[in-house]
Amino acid sequence: MCGIVAYIGNKPALPVLLEGLKRLEYRGYDSAGVALLKDELILLKTAGRVRVLEEVITASKAPLDATLGIAHTRWATHGEPTDENAHPHTDDQSKGHGIALIHNGIIENYRALKTYLEERGHVFTSDTDTEVLTHLIGELYDGDLESAVQAALREVTGAYAIAVIVKSEPDVLVVARKGSPLMVGVGKDEYIVASDSSAIVAHTTQAFTLDDYTVARLTRDSFRTTTVDNVPITPQVRELEFDLEQIELGKYEHFMQKEIHEQAQALRMCLKGRADSREGQIVLGGLADLARTLVKARRIIFVGQGTAFHAAMIGEYLMEDLAKIPSEVEFSSEFRYRNPIIEEGTVVIAISQSGETADTLAAIQEAHARGATTLGIVNVVGSSLARETDAGVYLRVGPEIGVASTKAFLGQLMTATMIAAFIGRRRFLSNEYVSNLMEDLEAIPDHIQRVVDQSDHIRSVTERYISRENWLFLGRGYNYPVALEGALKLKEISYIHAEGMPAAEMKHGPIALIDHGMPVVFVAPRDSQYDKVISNIEEVRSRGGHVIAVATEGDESIRDHCEDVFYVPAVPEPLQPMLTSVPLQLLAYHAAVLRGKDVDKPRNLAKSVTVE
Ligand code: M6R
Repeated sequence: MCGIVAYIGNKPALPVLLEGLKRLEYRGYDSAGVALLKDELILLKTAGRVRVLEEVITASKAPLDATLGIAHTRWATHGEPTDENAHPHTDDQSKGHGIALIHNGIIENYRALKTYLEERGHVFTSDTDTEVLTHLIGELYDGDLESAVQAALREVTGAYAIAVIVKSEPDVLVVARKGSPLMVGVGKDEYIVASDSSAIVAHTTQAFTLDDYTVARLTRDSFRTTTVDNVPITPQVRELEFDLEQIELGKYEHFMQKEIHEQAQALRMCLKGRADSREGQIVLGGLADLARTLVKARRIIFVGQGTAFHAAMIGEYLMEDLAKIPSEVEFSSEFRYRNPIIEEGTVVIAISQSGETADTLAAIQEAHARGATTLGIVNVVGSSLARETDAGVYLRVGPEIGVASTKAFLGQLMTATMIAAFIGRRRFLSNEYVSNLMEDLEAIPDHIQRVVDQSDHIRSVTERYISRENWLFLGRGYNYPVALEGALKLKEISYIHAEGMPAAEMKHGPIALIDHGMPVVFVAPRDSQYDKVISNIEEVRSRGGHVIAVATEGDESIRDHCEDVFYVPAVPEPLQPMLTSVPLQLLAYHAAVLRGKDVDKPRNLAKSVTVE
C-alpha cells in the first residue's frame, strides 16, 4: 500500500527520500511525490512510478538542497491515481500556511470535516481524504505545528500514519500514527521516518515504532513523543533485525525469485533453536507463558487473508491432527463483522506476514474484546499484530519484498506445525512421535532445495501452457489449501485466470469448464487420498484436460495419468504442503516472467493491505 519516507538532518533530504521510495516500491503504488522545505516549500508529484517523479524533479528548476523533506508513494483509495490526488497535499498553496502532509490510511469522517472546512472558506483541489486532514491542520495552526497536528488528530476517525512540515518551521518534522505502521530511524543528528524499516536500514539500525495515537516532533538533534492529548511518552529505541543484503536483489532478477530460492535457508532460520529431535522438544519462547492456557484450549480459530488464509487452513488441519483441539478457520474480514461467539477457552490465532493487514488486526481486536486468548504468527518484528496479540511466534524468514508471498507462506506452515506439536506434546503426543516429527521438520529445508533445483524443468513445462487463459488447481486434504495457493499465485502475478478447489468439488460444477488442452494442476502426492485423486485426474483427462501433477518422488505410475509431473520428496502428510506448494510458486513465477509481467509489482496489488 502507500509508502511514507521523511527526513530531517544535515544531509540533502532528496536523495534519502528517493532511495527510500524505491525501497518501498514493492508495497504497491500508483503515484509518487515529494515536498522539500528550506526557504521555500517545494512540491513535486505525479501519477506513475518513482522514475516518473525523478523525471519531474530533473525537469524542475527548483532548488533541491533542503535537509528536510517528506515523500510518498500512493495506492489509490479515495480518488483516481492522478497528479492532483498524489501526495504530499498542502493546506492551500496561496492562502494557507504552507503545510505539506503525506498520509497512509483512511480518514473515515473526511466528508463531514470537508463540509465544515468548506464553510470556512477552504477550497479543495483533490478528491482525497488526505487533503482534508491537511486543511484541518491548517485551520488549527497557530504557529506550532505539533499542537495543530495533535488537535486535528483528536477530530479524525479512521487510520493514519502521517508526516507533516510547515513553511514557518523549517527545523521541525511532525509525524503521527494510528492504525497504520510508522517507524522513526534514529541516526546521528538525523531522523529517517518510514512506513517500513526497509527505507531506514541503509541509514541506521536504531529505530522506534510509534504506538497508536502517538505524535513525534523531530528536530535535527532531538525528538519528543506525546499522545494526541499531549501526554509525554517514552518510546523504546531498538536494533532493527535485518541488514541491507536481505532487501537487495543480489544475483537474482526478481525478489520473488530470490525469495523462492532462499526458502530452504529461511526455514532453517525459522526452525533454529526451536526444534530438537534428540530431545523431542519444541521450544517456543513466545508461547512459554501461555502454555497452560493453550493446553486447556477448547477451540482454536485461525484467521488471515490471502496466502496467510491458506496457511491458516492448513493450521486448522495441523491443530486437529497434532493437538486434537477442535479448530476452524475464517477470513479475518468475515470474522470481524459477523458477531462471532467466543466461549471460554477459545484461542484465536492470526497469521500474517506483515502483521499490518487491517482486517486481521481488527479480527484480533474483536477476538480480544470478546475474551479470547490471541496469538500471532507474524513475520515482521514489532508489527501491529505482534504487539496486539497476547503472545506469538515470529516466522524469522527475513523480509519478504515480492508482493506474492512465498517464503513467508512456508514459514507460516512451519511455525503452525511447531505450535500444533508444542501443544500436542503437552497434551498427549509421545516423546517418540514428536522426536520423529522434529526429524522430519529438520529435513524439510534440504527437501525444499531439491524442489527449487527443478526450476528449469518447471519453466519448460510452464512455457508449453503459457497461452492458456484458464487454469484449475485441485487437491485434497492438506493439499486442498495448496491448490488454492497455487491458483492465487498464478493469478496475482501473471493475470491468468485460475481457480483452486477441493478435487472432489470439481464434479459439482467446475467440470463444465474443462475443454481440450485446459491445464489442470493436481496436487497428488502419495497420501491417504491418493487413489481418490487419481480418479479425479481421470475425470479431467477423459474430457480433454491436460494434467500437470505434483507427485511424490518415485511415483512412476502417475506418469500414466498425466502430461507432466513435478516431483517432491516423500514426507508425512501434515508436512507435504511445505513441499508441494514450491513447484506451484515456481510455475507462477515462470508464467509471469514468460508473459512479461512485472513480477514484484503486479498491477493493482499492494504488499500489505492496511485498509479494509
Ligand atoms: O501480510 P499478510 O500476510 O497479512 O498479507 C495477507 C495477504 O494480503 C497476502 O498474503 C496476499 O494475499 C499476497 N499477495 C499473496 O501472495
